[in-house]
Amino acid sequence: MTPAPTHAPQPTDVPAQAVRARCALITGITGQDGSYLLELLIGKGYSIHGILRRSSSFNTGRIDHLYVDPHLRLAQAAGQMTLHYADLTDAGSLAKLVRQIEPDEVYNLAAQSHVRVSFDMPVYTAESVAMGALKLLEAVRDYEVITGRDSDPAARVRYYQASSSEQYGKVRETPQCETTPFYPRSPYAVAKVMAHHATVNYREAYGIHASCGILFNHESPRRGETFVTRKITRAVGRIKLGLQPRVYLGNLEAKRDWGFAGDYVRAMWLMLQQSAPDDYVVATGRTLAVREFCELAFAHVGLDYRDFVAEDARYRRPSEVDLLRGDAAKARRMLGWEPTTTVEQLAAMMVEHDLELARREKTLRDAGHATERQRGPE
Ligand code: NAP
Ligand code: GDD
Repeated sequence: MTPAPTHAPQPTDVPAQAVRARCALITGITGQDGSYLLELLIGKGYSIHGILRRSSSFNTGRIDHLYVDPHLRLAQAAGQMTLHYADLTDAGSLAKLVRQIEPDEVYNLAAQSHVRVSFDMPVYTAESVAMGALKLLEAVRDYEVITGRDSDPAARVRYYQASSSEQYGKVRETPQCETTPFYPRSPYAVAKVMAHHATVNYREAYGIHASCGILFNHESPRRGETFVTRKITRAVGRIKLGLQPRVYLGNLEAKRDWGFAGDYVRAMWLMLQQSAPDDYVVATGRTLAVREFCELAFAHVGLDYRDFVAEDARYRRPSEVDLLRGDAAKARRMLGWEPTTTVEQLAAMMVEHDLELARREKTLRDAGHATERQRGPE
């Protein structure tokens, strides 16, 4: 992909009298949340810019369905998404993009987001998660000052920081809400705490319209395959079709408050539509152990998880977050946000998706193609 795929309308395609659509910059657009947010904003008529990391292989699988070849006339109608090569660790690329794009809203979703991996790569995790957020905030601050948008309340850039329930870590109160103290238990969480506080500080120090969404775990058929729910549902599909005998997991007793990613990106957008910036917990308020999620997912295809789940200590973390359950009362009250999907519906949706993938894999395997890939210790 050279240059980065461009989905913006060509200058000649834009009617002279066109009103400028709201413009959003999304970091992490190729990730799970980025892809759902992109769909949401396209539906709302935004012009969307996303940053793409340079990779030796394609990394746009989650958003390819929204790609329109700019050489086609169709690009005029669908010309809402432009991808730019940049990286959260590269301050210059971020500053240049913000100046060039002149966004109304910035969603900072990019991160090395895997907690277990953050123990193997603590420095890179801090560079992308903590310093990356700081670099982006600086880019927004400089841009506002240079353009004078900092002195016009109606013109302020609205900034969203992807904070995490992982920041609560070793919890001493349940459920967790916006005032619950943070006690991070992983390099990832430590970095997210810094990014969170930096965002609050830029709001207070420079008046930036910056909000943190403290989102509890949210999943979908687009969830990365090494997060536990997807690892389980993917295994359910493959076990059901005879493609693998069992799945190895770490701590089955950890409890999480799992929601649907499609619901959670709506909360992100709602936060940036408020007249004043603030921080919000986004959660379902229900919590299940990993073991119970296994039970649900396997039961969906008529199997008993106890026959197929084995424990392997390599998937445990050096320090664990045992229990997360969120209280999203503030988001409900102030944003009118509600989750629409129960964890049972979520598990069923993910298993159905992964069953279909397993069917395709089996077809390929039966035709003589090797399909399974090696995985890391996540
Ligand atoms: P994800 O699927 O892992 O996506 C992460 C995104 O960040 C990908 O687009 C990835 O690019 C990009 N990225 C990683 N390192 C980067 C770098 N150095 N520069 C630029 N881009 C980089 O994560 P997600 O589940 O969508 O989560 C979105 C955000 O919310 C993350 O910040 C995560 O930490 C946070 N969060 C997630 C949850 C959850 O349960 N999902 C809960 C709370 C907070 P590639 O596609 O090229 O890898
Ligand atoms: N990944 C993984 N793999 N987790 C396992 C496994 C396994 O084989 N076996 C048990 N677990 C347990 C983990 O120890 C953890 O307690 C729980 O399952 C959830 O793990 P993940 O799905 O990897 O998610 P996470 O909670 O660590 O982090 C996710 O949610 C955070 C919000 O609380 C990520 O999306 C983070 O980016 C996010 O901030």
